[in-house]
Amino acid sequence: MVEISAFQHQMSALLSRADCPAMAWVGALDCELSSDGRGPVSDMPSVFIKTYGCQMNERDSEAVAAQLVAKGYTLAASEAAADVVLLNTCSVRDAAEQKAIGKMQNLAADLRRNRPNLVLGFMGCMAQSRGQELIDKLPDVDLVIGTQKFHRTAEYLDDLFADRRKKVCDIGSEAGSEATIKEHILAGSGSRKSVTAFVSIMQGCNQHCTFCIVPFTRGEERSRTIEDIVAECRELVAGGVREVTLLGQIVTSYGKREIGAKDGKSAFVQLLEAVSEVEGLDRIRFTSPHPKGYGDDLVEAYGRLPKLCESAHIPAQSGSNEMLKLMHRGYTRERFTGIAGKLRQVRPNIGVTTDIIVGFPGESEAHFQETMSLLDEVRFDNAYVFKYSKRKDTPAATMPDQVPQEIIEDRHTRLLARVNEISVAKYQSFTGQHVQILVEGPSRRNASRLEGRTRCNKIVVFEGSSRHRAQLMDLKITRSSLCTLYGDPAIVNME
Ligand code: SAH
Ligand code: F3S
Repeated sequence: MVEISAFQHQMSALLSRADCPAMAWVGALDCELSSDGRGPVSDMPSVFIKTYGCQMNERDSEAVAAQLVAKGYTLAASEAAADVVLLNTCSVRDAAEQKAIGKMQNLAADLRRNRPNLVLGFMGCMAQSRGQELIDKLPDVDLVIGTQKFHRTAEYLDDLFADRRKKVCDIGSEAGSEATIKEHILAGSGSRKSVTAFVSIMQGCNQHCTFCIVPFTRGEERSRTIEDIVAECRELVAGGVREVTLLGQIVTSYGKREIGAKDGKSAFVQLLEAVSEVEGLDRIRFTSPHPKGYGDDLVEAYGRLPKLCESAHIPAQSGSNEMLKLMHRGYTRERFTGIAGKLRQVRPNIGVTTDIIVGFPGESEAHFQETMSLLDEVRFDNAYVFKYSKRKDTPAATMPDQVPQEIIEDRHTRLLARVNEISVAKYQSFTGQHVQILVEGPSRRNASRLEGRTRCNKIVVFEGSSRHRAQLMDLKITRSSLCTLYGDPAIVNME
């Protein structure tokens, strides 16, 4: 059986491309889940998983892979060598859907034509939003698994291989699906060697921003219990993990209904406190929060929980109050900048990143300039810049004054240039500073070097050896490029 740690390490190396948020989002995050080819040969079918989109999708793919390996399936080294190819999809923008559909068409044409027994499947958000339509339009697709059914992947593959069913499409809802994913990770935890791990704390989102398809693809907010999450973190630490990232579509709404506030602390802050108590865990991160969830209790938690890393990805979307209202974001520009200011007061070195959408319906040049000025006011360490994409059934899709594509492109280019300018300056300001990093493994660009992250979530590459892996190290930053710092441990040792 293929050792799970091999692909998990490969996964995190590929995943780290996401640390350059100014890159196109979906393209930057695409990654593949496969074996390194070292596993022993098995008679069980082999699977190749390709993931599009966000960290939640990465987490889901990891969980599905762990589940399949536990059931005896192996992970193939490439799609060409696989008996099953699964695409875990993203629906946030149309481009992401088209990319996965194009990929599936290529797989059908290139691979399935010669190997009719190859099983092809879609999972995740696009599977959820399009369902049976995917099989009707792409007859080579055998399997469509929605966002609440990941835990049934092995069972469905078994059915297809045993010829019990010809096609499977399951996009139903399932009570308790926010917790099923945990079972998968436990199944593979025995050989887990990753230093960092994602922990899914909730599913769904009730905010219904007018542009966003996520509430439709991921459903209503459902949170796991604090005990469950803490138990998973303990398991992970026992397997060598030193840093966890708590994941959800709107983590600041964690446990609102199920747990509620206590002593002036939101359920999310209670969770952060409980996870902080896990012995052996060094660092805690989370993504994605919503600005309206940054109450003083959360700001204050940054000041008193040393394991909580000083980095925050806070999606702003726009700098214009008029746009924010149309987007149904639930905060103003002033509230947003106030949060960034308070966080910087509590943790002066905090890294603040964001998401911005350009070309939302009704966005004039003047509105756009307000977003440009937000960049100058907040000076984000980095930002994902999205071109507005019309999504089925969302209120924004039928709003008046849709912005022409060429104007969207132009605003995207101008905004990205400013994001990068500020980012380069921010990264340069680290030169000469000492930082603490958690060493994750070989650098993704040059495997002879190592890389890790600062507490403020910046990648640092340095000359080191495998004995440094999983260590907290102090480095002196010697230079920087867009999205990467370069450090030297020797200088620290000599001082
Ligand atoms: N809170 C979620 C948000 C998911 S969508 C999470 O991070 O898990 C991620 C980002 O995609 C949003 O913050 C928004 O900036 C962008 N986005 C969502 N819908 C979009 C659309 N229709 N067009 C363009 N960008 C969009
Ligand atoms: Fe989407 Fe807004 Fe929720 S961006 S995920 S509806 S907070």
